[in-house]
Amino acid sequence: MRMQLGPDTPASQRSWDTARTDPAEGEIRYVPYKGEEQLPYLMALIDNDLSEPYSIYTYRFFLHSWPDLCFLAMDGDKYIGVVISKLERHRSTTLRGYIGMLVVDNTYRKRGIGSTLVKLSIEAMKNKDADEVVLETELTNGGALRLYENLGFIRDKRLSRYYLNGVDAFRLKLWLKRQEDMHTCEETAEDDQAHHAEHEAASANQGYYDDALLDDDFEQQLRERFGV
Ligand SMILES: CC(C)(COP(=O)(O)OP(=O)(O)OC[C@H]1O[C@@H](n2cnc3c(N)ncnc32)[C@H](O)[C@@H]1OP(=O)(O)O)[C@@H](O)C(=O)NCCC(=O)NCCS
Repeated sequence: MRMQLGPDTPASQRSWDTARTDPAEGEIRYVPYKGEEQLPYLMALIDNDLSEPYSIYTYRFFLHSWPDLCFLAMDGDKYIGVVISKLERHRSTTLRGYIGMLVVDNTYRKRGIGSTLVKLSIEAMKNKDADEVVLETELTNGGALRLYENLGFIRDKRLSRYYLNGVDAFRLKLWLKRQEDMHTCEETAEDDQAHHAEHEAASANQGYYDDALLDDDFEQQLRERFGV
């Protein structure tokens, strides 16, 4: 099944290969990261847009350890979007996904491509049993805040002068599981208390991942294409 999209189609109803609003423009493909030969293209795409410069070691840190959490958007053979993430245990308790970089080429924005890349990353993390996903974004980055909040992320913390340019950041957070289903290995009383406080702070319907954000078609494509 392929959906026709109009400009008003909500992000939650866009399937993974139908982010274009004008079918005559061609089709955007979403592909998993394959290897180092793609790195120069990803770096060019990202360095063009993010306020923080990253060294090649930062890219390798993410891509060598978590290649399966990187997804690319392509228009033909042109790289037009990328998401790079990691997944690690946090404070010896929760399995925490972290979205490190997300960029869409500025001539392709506001067509659901960024949201689709983030959803691919979240699904891959969920498949690896992640408990939660976090990221930081500049306070002034309205586009990113809107994108993530549409997907259920909440503003967890404000980090003062977090970026080199002096701008504050928000730490955004999305819980993939209810507290009772989360990992509790080696959890100290302090960790436990902190988690209780965090969960209480989130209202019943905010901050938790909603499976309904992915339509059936999107999920089926994920399974077939990426095995997630
Ligand atoms: C942030 C970014 C990845 C968004 O990519 P995108 O493909 O345009 O995102 P989407 O089309 O999926 O948009 C998702 C939602 O955010 C909104 N949005 C996206 N860019 C926006 C902007 N500049 N201003 C206001 N809203 C914006 C869209 O309207 C959409 O909401 P809607 O579905 O309710 O209409 C892209 O703007 C970008 O690469 N920016 C530079 C790098 C960056 O800031 N990365 C994020 C770092 S945390």
